[in-house]
Amino acid sequence: MVGATGRQGSAVVRHLLREGWQVRALTRNPASTAAVALRDLGAQLHQVDAMDAATLRPALRGAHGVFTVQNPMPSGVDAEVRQGRNVADAAADEGVRHVVYGAAGVGDELTGVPSWDSKIAVANHLRDRGLPLTVLRPMAFMELMTDRAFYPTLGVWGLMPKLMGPSRPVGWLCTDDLGAIAARVFADPGQWTGRSLSLASDVQSIDECRATWHDVMGRSPRGVALPVWLFERFTGKDLTTMWRWLRTADIDLSTDTARSLLPEALTVRAWLTRARHDRV
Ligand SMILES: NC(=O)c1ccc[n+]([C@@H]2O[C@H](COP(=O)([O-])OP(=O)(O)OC[C@H]3O[C@@H](n4cnc5c(N)ncnc54)[C@H](OP(=O)(O)O)[C@@H]3O)[C@@H](O)[C@H]2O)c1
Repeated sequence: MVGATGRQGSAVVRHLLREGWQVRALTRNPASTAAVALRDLGAQLHQVDAMDAATLRPALRGAHGVFTVQNPMPSGVDAEVRQGRNVADAAADEGVRHVVYGAAGVGDELTGVPSWDSKIAVANHLRDRGLPLTVLRPMAFMELMTDRAFYPTLGVWGLMPKLMGPSRPVGWLCTDDLGAIAARVFADPGQWTGRSLSLASDVQSIDECRATWHDVMGRSPRGVALPVWLFERFTGKDLTTMWRWLRTADIDLSTDTARSLLPEALTVRAWLTRARHDRV
């Protein structure tokens, strides 16, 4: 499991362990709180740095499958692609039989959105190396609305609706459901290998999410639309490019695949209700 200590990876680890798999959690820092929590759940920790392919091979040796995800936010899309390609090379060299790739976006065509096009580059490399591959493509995590690390006030309730348009559809999935779906994909490689799965358990515009938030929380979410230049100074241009692209793109969003894999996947309302409950 590459990216095991992160949002998606830790959910995948939890669900695989629950299903009885033996899981190796790859991390740069086995002493971190997140890594130790995975070890306490039953995962084996392996120290790697995905920037260095040589560290990945021993960790993947003999593994049946690999879940792999990279985050471009801390170090940029070039580092993301390099890490993703290194994982592909190590997995191919070690004869891994199923790779499940935590990608992103709304399709398999290039869009000019850097953090979506980087996923296509990594997926192409995984295919080029002949790996049996399933690509998981969530569009937006429900955590964008609730997790402070995503700065919801500035993002999902702030500049995102301003640039994208508040009534445009967004495909939502929570990371725990992504984890459950990945575990089901690993359990049935015959059905899911060779496929790129667009995953949304609910499709709601930001205005609709805002109304649901109001119903559930009893107040409106706070939103501040910073000037674009200021937002970009802190986060770069990836998100603003993405939101502008989404304003005019003709995207076909469906909940069918996520629901067929995980009928109990959460709606936005169920997610917000859970978030309110967790805070009490
Ligand atoms: N936010 C959204 O709505 C959304 C929607 C769809 C897709 N996505 C995509 O989701 C991805 C981010 O996933 P996430 O939120 O699960 O990420 P995350 O929580 O930031 O986790 C990233 C993981 O990568 C590991 N990592 C970082 N550098 C590494 C390196 N050099 N070698 C080995 N491991 C390394 C970290 O592990 P250690 O620190 O333990 O080493 C960490 O576990 C992005 O690609 C994004 O485009 C996001």
